Amino acid sequence: MPTEHVPVLAREVVELLSPQPGAIFIDGTIGGGGHARLLWDRIQPNGHLYGFEQDSEAITALGPTPFIVSQTNFVTMQAVCDAWEITGRVQGILLDLGYSSDQLKRGRGFSFRALSEPLDLRMDLSRTTTAADLLNEGTTHMLVELFRNYGELRQPQRLARVIADWRLDHPIATVADLIECVQQAYHTSSSDVLAKVWQACRIAVNDELSTLQTTLAAALTVLSPGGRLAVITFHSLEDRIVKQQFAQWSDTRCTCPPEWPICQCQRQAQVIVLTKHPVLPSTEEQTNNPRSRSAKLRAIKKI
Ligand SMILES: C[S@@+](CC[C@H](N)C(=O)[O-])C[C@H]1O[C@@H](n2cnc3c(N)ncnc32)[C@H](O)[C@@H]1O
Repeated sequence: MPTEHVPVLAREVVELLSPQPGAIFIDGTIGGGGHARLLWDRIQPNGHLYGFEQDSEAITALGPTPFIVSQTNFVTMQAVCDAWEITGRVQGILLDLGYSSDQLKRGRGFSFRALSEPLDLRMDLSRTTTAADLLNEGTTHMLVELFRNYGELRQPQRLARVIADWRLDHPIATVADLIECVQQAYHTSSSDVLAKVWQACRIAVNDELSTLQTTLAAALTVLSPGGRLAVITFHSLEDRIVKQQFAQWSDTRCTCPPEWPICQCQRQAQVIVLTKHPVLPSTEEQTNNPRSRSAKLRAIKKI
C-alpha cells in the first residue's frame, strides 16, 4: 500500500541538512520514506543513504528502495554504523520522531478514534509488552508515574485508580476500554486529555525518551566533522531532551572546580546550533497537514 504519510517540514529539513552530491546520509526514522527520498535525490550522484526503521510493516510497505535499511531501533545506531563502516563519515542525520500516519491505520490502537482496536501501541512488534499489558499489570504507583511523567497529566492518580478498579472485573483490552476509564476519571474524554494519555502509554511501551537520549550521543559520534543532525519532535518532553543536549554540546563554560585558580578543562563547543529557536511549520503547512501542528525542528553542525 502506498504511504499516506506526508513528510513534515520537508523544505526546512533539506535546507538545514544541506545534502550534497556524494554524501553519506542517515534517516533514523524511515517511515513512509518521504524525507529519505528527498535527501536521496540531493545526494546523487554517488551518495548513500542508510536508514533505520523499527516497524517491520513499514519496511514491507516501503517496497524496493535505493537505501539500505536496518530493521532496528535507532538506539543501535552506533553499532550498526560501525558494522556499515560509516562511523565518522556521515554528513547528515535526520530523526523525525514519533509515529507515522500509516501507523494510525495498522490496527494497533495508535488512534484513539479506532475504538475497537486492541490497545497495543508497539512500533516494534518484536517487543513483548503492549500498552494493554502495562495497564493491566502495572502497579497503581507505576501508572501514576507513567501518566505524570510521560503524559504530563494533572491528577494522574485519578486515572490510575480507575484503571486499577476496572481491571478487577475485566482486563483493559481495547481503545474504547481506556477511553471509558479516562471518562470515569476526568468526566471528559476530550481529544486534549486523550492525546496526553496516549502519549504517555506510547512513550512507555516504546521506551521513547531514553532511546532518544542515547541516540543523540551516538549521532554525534557517527557524524563527520561539519556533519549535521536535524531532529523533528512532536511533544515537549522530546523537544526538551533535544534542546538541552544541543545546548550542552555547544556550551563553552568552564567546568573546573571553582577553587582552581586557572581553568584546566579548556572546554570547547562540540557543535554549532543552527536553529537558535525551533523551526515550526508554516501556517500553510499546518493547514494542509494538521499532523504537522506540533512539530518542532532543531539542528546542529558538528565542529
Ligand atoms: C514520523 S515517522 C517518519 C516519517 C518519515 N520521515 C517519512 O517522511 O515518511 C516515524 C517513523 O519512525 C519509526 N520510529 C520511531 N521511533 C523509532 C526508533 N526509535 N527506531 C527506529 N524507528 C523508529 C516509526 O516506526 C515510524 O515509522
